[in-house]
Amino acid sequence: EWWAKERSQQTPESKAIEEAAELLRSSDLPVAFPTETVYGLGADATRSSSVQGIYRAKQRPSDNPLIVHIDSLDMLERLLNPTLRSSPTGTKTPSISIPPIYKPLIDKFWPGALTIILPNSSGSPLAPEVTSKLTTFGVRMPSSPLARLLIHATDRPLAAPSANASTKPSPTTAQHVYHDLQGRIDLILDGGASGVGVESTVVDGLCDPPAILRPGGIGIDEIRKCEGWETVAVGYKDGSLDVKEVPRAPGMKYRHYSPKARVVLFEPSSSQAGVVKHVKADLKDTAIGAHNIGIIRTRNWKLGLELASEDQIAKTSSPVPSPVENVISFPVPVPDTGSNGRAKMAYDYHLGSDAVSIAHGLFAALRGLDELDVDVIYVEGVPDSEGDLAAAVMNRLRKAAGAELRV
Ligand code: TXA
Ligand code: MG
Repeated sequence: EWWAKERSQQTPESKAIEEAAELLRSSDLPVAFPTETVYGLGADATRSSSVQGIYRAKQRPSDNPLIVHIDSLDMLERLLNPTLRSSPTGTKTPSISIPPIYKPLIDKFWPGALTIILPNSSGSPLAPEVTSKLTTFGVRMPSSPLARLLIHATDRPLAAPSANASTKPSPTTAQHVYHDLQGRIDLILDGGASGVGVESTVVDGLCDPPAILRPGGIGIDEIRKCEGWETVAVGYKDGSLDVKEVPRAPGMKYRHYSPKARVVLFEPSSSQAGVVKHVKADLKDTAIGAHNIGIIRTRNWKLGLELASEDQIAKTSSPVPSPVENVISFPVPVPDTGSNGRAKMAYDYHLGSDAVSIAHGLFAALRGLDELDVDVIYVEGVPDSEGDLAAAVMNRLRKAAGAELRV
């Protein structure tokens, strides 16, 4: 009702949504839109040519399947039973329903940051590019009202990966999308910063026991509380656990979440003294020492204070202007290697100490430090065992750092 009224009054918002919906129905260029997790790059999931446009725009490998976004359970039912409505005889087509194991999850977490894996039938209206040859597809109902309105106005399920250029950190603002995809897409709906900041949790209930394929916005502990999910297995691999299988969500195997700068992640078990020693040795190394560094700290680090004295920071530090907030910069007093005469600046970024604010700001911090042209980013990790978002944050950071750059 609200939407019908909004639409009839032709507000700027409703016109923008209509324009985006029209592009999604008719053009092969994808449209970027906000969701509560990260920005998505959407296309009509039932049209091959438009889904191909997603892979082109973000230069995504074609064997990495996309998540389908729906606005209602009704839309999902129609997707699962494409012939139900058009049956001319009125005979009841056997209906394919959502496997019962997902019911408690859907009740509890939809709309929200949870993607479920469903079987894809041979008569499915989904374009084959969505599933990239798998016999299953991932689907979620986002909680962002703007995302759901867009799906509703388009009246199609939307296939949408994160709206970053492939390998880059996921975008949590419209500006991040613009930075990566300008010239490659025609329209970005700007809904402000994404609240959650990391992508949805991907779960597979088709196997026994069910498995988490990607940690994300919904915590594993919360999922374990649901009936049928008590023994959920960890089906992803990021070095945190001894999981020997190959990654089951195809996207998990690619280089991911990587800023231009080299990322060094310190696991939370690293001692402060060990961190300082490692960084100081790094800074003396001519390859790194003559450059700028970024620090992303969460809880306990006093790395800035250890690199420069408190006095010196007080005298010389300055807030860094937009696009990066919560950052102070100060010169780092390391022995001059004389290699190229560039200033050695440290940019110290405090993400906050609870998992919610860390997840919310993480991708913006990685991107913001890239804009400041740092060469290496030192990151203070948090314990996975804190559950909820902590494991998702560490998963993204381990990928950003790559196995060889974790300390
Ligand atoms: O929060 C999110 O999920 C965001 C927003 C835009 O909704 N989307 C997102 O999409 O993160 P993307 O494409 O960046 O990541 C999708 C992940 C990949 O790791 C992919 O391999 C996995 O989901 N995936 C998709 N379909 C799958 C399937 N049928 N089986 C296993 N994994 C699948
Ligand atoms: Mg992605």
